[in-house]
Amino acid sequence: LSCTVTLDPAFGVAAVDPRLFGSFVEHMGRCVYGGVFEPGHADADTDGLRLDVLNLVRELGITVVRYPGGNFVSGYRWEDGVGPVADRPRRLDLAWRSVETNAFGLNEFMTWARRAGAEPMMAVNLGTRGIQEACDLLEYANHPGGTYWSDLRRSHGVADPHGIKLWCLGNEMDGPWQVGHKSADAYGALAAETAKAMRQVDPGIKLVACGSSNDRMPTFGSWEATVLDHTFEHVDFISLHAYFEKHGEDRAGFLSSGLAMDRFIDGVIATADHVAAKRRSRKRLKLSFDEWNIWYESRFAGHTNLEWAQAPRLIEDEYTVEDAVVVGSLLMSLLRHADRVGVACLAQLVNIIAPIRAEPDRPAWRQTIFHPFALTARHARGTVLRVEPVTPTYDTAQHGDVPVADVVATHDPETGHVTVLAVNRSETDAVTLTAHLRALPGLRIVEHLVLGGVPGELLHTNNAADPDRIQPRTGNASTLTDGELTAALPPVSWTMLRLA
Ligand code: AHR
Repeated sequence: LSCTVTLDPAFGVAAVDPRLFGSFVEHMGRCVYGGVFEPGHADADTDGLRLDVLNLVRELGITVVRYPGGNFVSGYRWEDGVGPVADRPRRLDLAWRSVETNAFGLNEFMTWARRAGAEPMMAVNLGTRGIQEACDLLEYANHPGGTYWSDLRRSHGVADPHGIKLWCLGNEMDGPWQVGHKSADAYGALAAETAKAMRQVDPGIKLVACGSSNDRMPTFGSWEATVLDHTFEHVDFISLHAYFEKHGEDRAGFLSSGLAMDRFIDGVIATADHVAAKRRSRKRLKLSFDEWNIWYESRFAGHTNLEWAQAPRLIEDEYTVEDAVVVGSLLMSLLRHADRVGVACLAQLVNIIAPIRAEPDRPAWRQTIFHPFALTARHARGTVLRVEPVTPTYDTAQHGDVPVADVVATHDPETGHVTVLAVNRSETDAVTLTAHLRALPGLRIVEHLVLGGVPGELLHTNNAADPDRIQPRTGNASTLTDGELTAALPPVSWTMLRLA
């Protein structure tokens, strides 16, 4: 099998926004408690922040972290999480039927995010709360001083405003599981008024309206259209969430999840542009894909029959090699849409459907999906090139005809470096990748890494007993001569080639 592309810096999609490499920390299960924050752990600092986790977070290269939810935020009183820890109330978290101690809140999160080198992305509660509480939180976080909420922050030992730029107007408000779930009209009207008021507090913020929880929601498409009818002028982004999993033994369908992501993104762009057309607006709304990952939801007990517990073990999925190949291809889908997707968050960061796992009695470790994310975040920089892969297709029950291989490439105009990312979805055949590079003379291959492609290894995981079992390995059989790059892509694999 073959796959041919032409790489030419004259044909670019858009610059890669570093915010595409974001992640998500929710007060859920052991993401915060026992994940990023675990006072008393051998690797925790005096603030209770786990340094082993922080080191892996930095290595992962995340740029943005969304916080504090997720479904959690729709019942959250942010004031519970600030001020002297001894005075903070214990509350029921209805979203995950958990007991929230509030030992970790906004100021602890900001300390952590600074150390992680990541930009915060805050969500406000538009489930059980509204305009006033959103403005109070923004005033507490961003106003310099001399007012009730900003002086309260200062009295909590935080003299300088946090200066948080990115704000989500609620979370998954289309979902019946959401505390305070609303119709599109009710949410759209509330989101528009909240946006207007929040901009009065701080005109420098960027706002994200809730799109659909996934594209299988019965209201998908009409939800976005109605919400944007209300909010189009007042927001900067509309959100998308998507989780993928392998259903039964349908590996072929699972490996083509990137196509489902492409279609979802294209559908939201079409809807946003439809609203723009109706308004005769030149504004091209950006997309915030602020939850995406693989989540084996079929293994999850559900939202309603969980036992009340503090920091319970919830959805701590262990990821296989084939999961890592799919995560690599989902990142390629995001990059291909770099002209419209301005923010993306791998959900979540630690323990909960996460690239990083942490336990109380040992150092944190990398799951398989850590690797394609870290490598893409580090090396897919500059401009995404418009490549048009020519490759055979195969038939899938889920997605129809699917190209057997996918390729994305970036070109850094400053260094001249090129990164080629490729996936071979075939379960049986290697694909020979050929890239024509005549418009990019003088390059040589400096790195060729492969994940997957080893028969019998596809279902292997990295676990506590063997945390480094699966890692990218150096590929062979790649050449670059006379402006033509060739590489063998083994069956069910993700490949990165770096040219300099
Ligand atoms: O990431 C887990 C959950 O998935 C989030 O809380 C919610 O927003 C989504 O449904």
